[in-house]
Amino acid sequence: MAGEGAIVDRLRASEAGRVAEIIRGLPEWFTPNAAVEAERDAVSMTGFAARLGGVVRGFVLLDERECCVEIAWLAVERGFQGQGLGSLLLEAAEDYACSRGKPVLTVKTYGGMDYEPYLRTLRFYRSRGFKLYEVIDEYKPFGGQPAAILLKRLDCGQPPGSTLEEPRRGPAPRPLRPGSPDGSST
Ligand SMILES: CC(C)(COP(=O)(O)OP(=O)(O)OC[C@H]1O[C@@H](n2cnc3c(N)ncnc32)[C@H](O)[C@@H]1OP(=O)(O)O)[C@@H](O)C(=O)NCCC(=O)NCCS
Repeated sequence: MAGEGAIVDRLRASEAGRVAEIIRGLPEWFTPNAAVEAERDAVSMTGFAARLGGVVRGFVLLDERECCVEIAWLAVERGFQGQGLGSLLLEAAEDYACSRGKPVLTVKTYGGMDYEPYLRTLRFYRSRGFKLYEVIDEYKPFGGQPAAILLKRLDCGQPPGSTLEEPRRGPAPRPLRPGSPDGSST
Protein backbone atom coordinates (compact mmCIF):
# COMPACT_ATOMS: atom_id res chain seq x y z
CA MET A 1 0.00 0.00 0.00
CA ALA A 2 1.19 3.56 -0.76
CA GLY A 3 3.08 5.09 2.14
CA GLU A 4 2.59 2.01 4.33
CA GLY A 5 3.59 2.68 7.93
CA ALA A 6 3.99 6.39 7.29
CA ILE A 7 2.46 9.07 9.45
CA VAL A 8 1.87 12.55 8.10
CA ASP A 9 1.47 15.35 10.60
CA ARG A 10 2.53 18.94 11.16
CA LEU A 11 6.19 19.77 10.70
CA ARG A 12 7.66 21.56 13.70
CA ALA A 13 9.85 24.64 13.41
CA SER A 14 12.49 22.74 15.40
CA GLU A 15 12.70 20.28 12.46
CA ALA A 16 13.90 22.94 10.00
CA GLY A 17 17.42 21.48 10.10
CA ARG A 18 16.06 18.14 8.90
CA VAL A 19 14.35 19.91 6.00
CA ALA A 20 17.70 21.39 4.96
CA GLU A 21 19.34 17.97 5.25
CA ILE A 22 16.77 16.36 2.91
CA ILE A 23 17.18 19.17 0.38
CA ARG A 24 20.98 18.90 0.50
CA GLY A 25 20.65 15.20 -0.27
CA LEU A 26 18.86 15.91 -3.57
CA PRO A 27 21.37 17.90 -5.65
CA GLU A 28 19.77 16.86 -8.97
CA TRP A 29 16.75 18.92 -7.97
CA PHE A 30 17.99 21.63 -5.62
CA THR A 31 20.96 24.03 -5.52
CA PRO A 32 23.02 24.28 -2.28
CA ASN A 33 21.43 27.65 -1.59
CA ALA A 34 17.98 26.06 -1.66
CA ALA A 35 18.73 24.23 1.60
CA VAL A 36 19.23 27.55 3.36
CA GLU A 37 16.01 28.97 1.90
CA ALA A 38 13.98 25.86 2.75
CA GLU A 39 15.31 25.84 6.31
CA ARG A 40 14.18 29.44 6.70
CA ASP A 41 10.77 28.73 5.17
CA ALA A 42 10.29 25.68 7.41
CA VAL A 43 10.24 28.06 10.36
CA SER A 44 7.76 30.55 8.90
CA MET A 45 5.46 28.45 6.68
CA THR A 46 2.88 25.79 7.44
CA GLY A 47 4.45 22.41 6.85
CA PHE A 48 3.67 18.73 7.01
CA ALA A 49 6.12 15.90 7.58
CA ALA A 50 5.97 12.29 6.40
CA ARG A 51 7.49 10.16 9.15
CA LEU A 52 8.60 6.56 9.04
CA GLY A 53 9.46 5.10 12.42
CA GLY A 54 9.27 8.63 13.79
CA VAL A 55 11.95 9.97 11.39
CA VAL A 56 11.07 12.75 8.93
CA ARG A 57 11.60 11.29 5.44
CA GLY A 58 9.70 13.91 3.47
CA PHE A 59 8.01 17.24 3.88
CA VAL A 60 5.86 19.85 2.20
CA LEU A 61 5.86 23.58 2.97
CA LEU A 62 2.84 25.66 2.06
CA ASP A 63 2.50 29.32 1.29
CA GLU A 64 -1.01 30.64 1.68
CA ARG A 65 -1.97 33.21 -0.95
CA GLU A 66 -5.12 35.26 -1.43
CA CYS A 67 -6.34 32.98 -4.22
CA CYS A 68 -4.97 29.63 -3.23
CA VAL A 69 -2.36 27.63 -1.43
CA GLU A 70 1.04 27.24 -3.08
CA ILE A 71 3.35 24.30 -2.55
CA ALA A 72 6.57 26.16 -1.82
CA TRP A 73 8.66 23.03 -1.20
CA LEU A 74 8.01 19.32 -1.54
CA ALA A 75 10.69 16.68 -1.15
CA VAL A 76 11.13 13.08 -0.14
CA GLU A 77 14.52 11.83 0.99
CA ARG A 78 16.55 9.78 -1.46
CA GLY A 79 15.98 6.10 -0.80
CA PHE A 80 12.40 6.75 0.32
CA GLN A 81 11.00 8.07 -2.96
CA GLY A 82 8.48 6.03 -4.90
CA GLN A 83 6.89 4.58 -1.75
CA GLY A 84 3.86 6.85 -1.58
CA LEU A 85 5.18 9.50 0.82
CA GLY A 86 4.96 12.31 -1.75
CA SER A 87 1.35 11.39 -2.49
CA LEU A 88 0.48 11.43 1.21
CA LEU A 89 2.10 14.85 1.57
CA LEU A 90 0.08 16.12 -1.40
CA GLU A 91 -3.09 14.87 0.27
CA ALA A 92 -2.14 16.73 3.46
CA ALA A 93 -1.60 19.89 1.38
CA GLU A 94 -5.00 19.44 -0.27
CA ASP A 95 -6.75 18.95 3.07
CA TYR A 96 -5.04 22.03 4.43
CA ALA A 97 -6.05 24.16 1.43
CA CYS A 98 -9.66 23.01 1.81
CA SER A 99 -9.60 23.74 5.53
CA ARG A 100 -8.54 27.30 4.67
CA GLY A 101 -11.42 27.64 2.21
CA LYS A 102 -9.01 27.73 -0.77
CA PRO A 103 -9.86 24.95 -3.19
CA VAL A 104 -6.90 25.54 -5.51
CA LEU A 105 -3.38 24.21 -5.02
CA THR A 106 -0.51 25.60 -7.10
CA VAL A 107 3.14 24.77 -7.56
CA LYS A 108 6.01 26.21 -9.57
CA THR A 109 8.51 23.68 -10.76
CA TYR A 110 11.39 23.59 -13.24
CA GLY A 111 9.80 23.99 -16.64
CA GLY A 112 12.53 22.89 -19.04
CA MET A 113 11.51 19.79 -20.98
CA ASP A 114 15.08 18.50 -21.24
CA TYR A 115 15.99 17.35 -17.74
CA GLU A 116 14.93 13.84 -16.69
CA PRO A 117 14.77 14.35 -12.87
CA TYR A 118 12.29 17.20 -13.25
CA LEU A 119 10.39 15.44 -16.02
CA ARG A 120 9.66 12.78 -13.36
CA THR A 121 8.55 15.49 -10.97
CA LEU A 122 6.27 16.94 -13.63
CA ARG A 123 4.80 13.50 -14.29
CA PHE A 124 4.20 13.07 -10.56
CA TYR A 125 2.16 16.28 -10.37
CA ARG A 126 0.27 15.65 -13.59
CA SER A 127 -0.68 12.10 -12.63
CA ARG A 128 -2.08 13.54 -9.41
CA GLY A 129 -4.40 15.98 -11.12
CA PHE A 130 -2.29 19.10 -11.63
CA LYS A 131 -2.70 20.92 -14.95
CA LEU A 132 -0.11 23.06 -16.64
CA TYR A 133 -1.17 26.70 -16.38
CA GLU A 134 1.85 28.42 -17.92
CA VAL A 135 5.56 28.10 -18.63
CA ILE A 136 7.64 31.18 -17.86
CA ASP A 137 10.75 31.04 -20.04
CA GLU A 138 13.09 32.98 -17.79
CA TYR A 139 11.94 32.91 -14.19
CA LYS A 140 14.21 35.04 -12.00
CA PRO A 141 13.77 33.12 -8.72
CA PHE A 142 14.94 30.01 -10.62
CA GLY A 143 18.10 31.83 -11.74
CA GLY A 144 16.54 32.74 -15.09
CA GLN A 145 15.60 29.14 -15.92
CA PRO A 146 12.13 28.18 -17.09
CA ALA A 147 9.35 27.60 -14.57
CA ALA A 148 6.17 25.60 -15.07
CA ILE A 149 3.19 26.80 -13.09
CA LEU A 150 0.80 23.98 -12.29
CA LEU A 151 -2.67 24.19 -10.76
CA LYS A 152 -5.00 21.69 -9.21
CA ARG A 153 -8.59 22.48 -8.45
CA LEU A 154 -9.70 20.62 -5.37
CA ASP A 155 -12.96 18.96 -4.61
CA CYS A 156 -13.40 20.16 -1.07
CA GLY A 157 -16.62 18.30 -0.60
CA GLN A 158 -19.10 20.78 -2.03
CA PRO A 159 -22.37 19.17 -3.02
CA PRO A 160 -22.63 18.53 -6.76
CA GLY A 161 -23.88 21.54 -8.69
CA SER A 162 -22.70 24.14 -6.17
CA THR A 163 -19.24 24.63 -7.63
CA LEU A 164 -17.61 27.36 -9.68
CA GLU A 165 -18.80 25.46 -12.77
CA GLU A 166 -22.11 27.28 -12.48
CA PRO A 167 -22.28 30.29 -14.78
CA ARG A 168 -22.48 33.59 -12.95
CA ARG A 169 -25.44 35.68 -14.00
CA GLY A 170 -25.93 39.39 -13.62
CA PRO A 171 -29.36 40.98 -13.13
CA ALA A 172 -31.89 40.48 -15.93
CA PRO A 173 -31.59 43.24 -18.56
CA ARG A 174 -34.33 45.89 -18.54
CA PRO A 175 -36.01 46.68 -21.86
CA LEU A 176 -34.71 49.84 -23.49
CA ARG A 177 -37.16 52.56 -24.49
CA PRO A 178 -36.58 54.84 -27.44
CA GLY A 179 -35.11 58.18 -26.35
CA SER A 180 -33.96 56.90 -23.00
CA PRO A 181 -30.34 55.77 -23.34
CA ASP A 182 -30.28 53.86 -20.08
CA GLY A 183 -33.78 52.48 -20.31
CA SER A 184 -35.10 54.56 -17.39
CA SER A 185 -38.65 55.83 -17.57
CA THR A 186 -37.91 59.31 -16.16
C1 LIG B 1 8.42 14.32 -6.49
C2 LIG B 1 8.44 13.64 -5.13
C3 LIG B 1 8.10 14.62 -4.03
C4 LIG B 1 7.37 12.54 -5.16
O1 LIG B 1 7.41 11.87 -3.92
P1 LIG B 1 7.43 10.28 -3.91
O2 LIG B 1 7.32 9.85 -2.49
O3 LIG B 1 8.59 9.80 -4.68
O4 LIG B 1 6.08 10.00 -4.71
P2 LIG B 1 5.09 8.76 -4.56
O5 LIG B 1 5.83 7.56 -4.11
O6 LIG B 1 3.91 9.18 -3.78
O7 LIG B 1 4.62 8.60 -6.05
C5 LIG B 1 5.52 8.05 -6.96
C6 LIG B 1 5.11 8.53 -8.29
O8 LIG B 1 5.89 9.66 -8.60
C7 LIG B 1 6.73 9.36 -9.70
N1 LIG B 1 8.04 9.89 -9.31
C8 LIG B 1 8.41 11.15 -9.59
N2 LIG B 1 9.65 11.35 -9.17
C9 LIG B 1 10.06 10.20 -8.61
C10 LIG B 1 11.27 9.79 -8.02
N3 LIG B 1 12.32 10.61 -7.92
N4 LIG B 1 11.36 8.53 -7.51
C11 LIG B 1 10.31 7.69 -7.61
N5 LIG B 1 9.15 8.02 -8.17
C12 LIG B 1 9.03 9.27 -8.68
C13 LIG B 1 6.69 7.85 -9.89
O9 LIG B 1 6.79 7.59 -11.27
C14 LIG B 1 5.33 7.50 -9.35
O10 LIG B 1 4.33 7.69 -10.30
P3 LIG B 1 3.06 6.73 -10.39
O11 LIG B 1 2.59 6.42 -8.99
O12 LIG B 1 2.08 7.53 -11.17
O13 LIG B 1 3.57 5.52 -11.08
C15 LIG B 1 9.81 12.96 -4.81
O14 LIG B 1 10.09 11.98 -5.76
C16 LIG B 1 10.95 13.94 -4.71
O15 LIG B 1 11.30 14.39 -3.62
N6 LIG B 1 11.56 14.28 -5.86
C17 LIG B 1 12.70 15.18 -5.88
C18 LIG B 1 12.36 16.59 -5.45
C19 LIG B 1 11.23 17.20 -6.24
O16 LIG B 1 11.10 17.02 -7.44
N7 LIG B 1 10.40 17.97 -5.52
C20 LIG B 1 9.30 18.73 -6.10
C21 LIG B 1 9.83 20.08 -6.47
S1 LIG B 1 8.54 21.10 -7.16
